[in-house]
Amino acid sequence: MDNRPQWGTRAGFVLAAIGSAVGLGNIWRFPYVAYDNGGGAFFLPYLFAILTAGIPILILEFAIGQKFRGSAPLSFFRLNKKMEWLGWWQVFISFVIATYYAVIIAWAISYTFFSFNKAWGEDTGGFLFSKYLHLAETPGDVGAPVLGVFGPLVVVWAITLFILFKGVKKGIERANKIFIPTLLVIFTIIVIRAVTLEGATAGLNAFFQPNWDAIMDGKVWVAAYGHIFFSLSIGFAIMITYASYLPKKSDVVNNAFITGFANSGFELLAGIGVFAALGFMAAQAGVPVNEVASAGVGLAFAVFPQIINQMPFGEFFGALFFLSLVFAGLTSLISICEVFIAAVQDKFKISRNKSVLYGAGLASLISILYSTNGGLYFLDVVDYFINQFGIAVAGLVEVILFAWVFKQMNPLQAHANAVSDIRAGGWWKFCLGIVTPIVLGYMMFDLFKQNILQQFDTDSGNYEGYVTSFILFPGVFIAVGVIVLGIIVSLKKWSRATLEENYSSNSDKGVGL
Ligand code: ALA
Repeated sequence: MDNRPQWGTRAGFVLAAIGSAVGLGNIWRFPYVAYDNGGGAFFLPYLFAILTAGIPILILEFAIGQKFRGSAPLSFFRLNKKMEWLGWWQVFISFVIATYYAVIIAWAISYTFFSFNKAWGEDTGGFLFSKYLHLAETPGDVGAPVLGVFGPLVVVWAITLFILFKGVKKGIERANKIFIPTLLVIFTIIVIRAVTLEGATAGLNAFFQPNWDAIMDGKVWVAAYGHIFFSLSIGFAIMITYASYLPKKSDVVNNAFITGFANSGFELLAGIGVFAALGFMAAQAGVPVNEVASAGVGLAFAVFPQIINQMPFGEFFGALFFLSLVFAGLTSLISICEVFIAAVQDKFKISRNKSVLYGAGLASLISILYSTNGGLYFLDVVDYFINQFGIAVAGLVEVILFAWVFKQMNPLQAHANAVSDIRAGGWWKFCLGIVTPIVLGYMMFDLFKQNILQQFDTDSGNYEGYVTSFILFPGVFIAVGVIVLGIIVSLKKWSRATLEENYSSNSDKGVGL
């Protein structure tokens, strides 16, 4: 019996995939990562990472979901029983990400309102940490939920749960059809305004000027690969889950290219907008651009308010900027939650509504931790470890198991090519089987060396200078915990009905979009 939900149209699926890919990672993470890794010189490794890992893995994940028609654990099980644990590992990674991702969207909601009267005043950094987040003095102190963060967090979860309860076609597809075009319009307005500000050219030069020394630095390549996983939503089961709702004969390869290029296009647009604005700020302060740029949280929530303070009609453009973070974030959060909702539903044979209630409900309760006084420190450590030791490692294991251990490249390539407008040729196998394992393998070795071998002997050498106990728990504990949990859940047997539902190993018949 075929009762799996399906996307209504091909455009609906592609928009949902783009909605998942385009997220907080594109708007506040990419511009700084690019800048920090040699500006213009970053583009070559970035492009290389998209073409050799990003799009090939996207094709792989679309093909797996589309062929095996199940959540990640079920699809991996159908591919080979011994791969199920990897599906659960990725499901738990998504669960952890959902818990803090929602909180960043909550900040963006607050900041949309703060924009109206520039509530942050002159000292935007002080406002962020003391007046808004009420940040605890010591990392590891929890304190209590901060009302200003907790309130919008409830709103984020209310919207997310509402859309998820509505289902794949009426909820997720419809929401993306509204949010993504709106996001594009808002963002285009912001970028046009930013590039016409005084000093914008200096910002763009800082962003685009090639730094050829940087290209020889392994760190830049590692950063490019690391970024691509988060940005394209690959390695944590999202695209497998979304593709499992595709009709049997729908395109895979072309859709992956469209999704990949749309994500990168948006990312470049974000980079241009952010750096043009930084150029403006540098010109106002009379300092070089590299003295005003700063990382992640700081860039969006401390530096941007400063720019908004100085620009004409700052209130309006500030509100639009933070609103774009909210829209981009929500469509990604929905996709992250769908990963565990689909998996729990498949494994435990419960209704979608119950799965949304238990899965996203539990995630929302845990996310309250990040709205406390100590929340920012937890968020920072968990985000770092789940990204570096979660997504990228899970992606590497996925590619190695798939290409080398279970040797599934030929059957999946044949499947993808049978349904797609364009073909995944020899380049696809070469990228997945050779290039990606080598680069990611090197990246893991390098990260392990930096984080574990060298730095655990002194407290001062840890990530961000946190004390070792704070790194071990929650950082390493969570990164390792998701693997252990993944293995444990995979020990539970599937019901025969689930295994036979919506899938037959020798049927490839059906109608496409
Ligand atoms: N791909 C999503 C982002 O970039 C998770 O934020």
